[in-house]
Amino acid sequence: MKDTDDNQFYSQQDEAQFTTKRLHLTYKGVILDIMSVLDLSCNKLTGEIPEELGLLTQIRVLNLSHNVLTGPIPVKLSNLTNIESLDLSSNHLT
Ligand SMILES: *[C@@H]1O[C@H](CO)[C@@H](O)[C@H](O)[C@H]1NC(C)=O
Ligand SMILES: *[C@@H]1O[C@H](CO)[C@@H](O)[C@H](O)[C@H]1NC(C)=O
Repeated sequence: MKDTDDNQFYSQQDEAQFTTKRLHLTYKGVILDIMSVLDLSCNKLTGEIPEELGLLTQIRVLNLSHNVLTGPIPVKLSNLTNIESLDLSSNHLT
């Protein structure tokens, strides 16, 4: 599919800031069409990591760091075949 201004999901003005691979950058334009990011870092999330996150097979960045998550890392996270950056640090995982 050709990327033109007409079929872009995001407009040129839209921008999003997030940290991935420890770089805090502003993203705008066509890159937002392919970036799939879930950043829930620095919250107070408790309990185990839901294995359903393994269903997010298109996701490229998952950051659950700096929470209070416990238990094991779900085996199903191995199904995140497009993942480029996965940060589970600063939790209480076993
Ligand atoms: C995850 O989020 C934390 C807090 O926002 C940030 O410091 C860290 O660099 C992020 N991890 C990665 C791999 O970008
Ligand atoms: C990973 O995804 C594939 C395709 O969606 C599915 O068949 C398989 O059961 C999944 N594996 C796990 C461990 O969830």
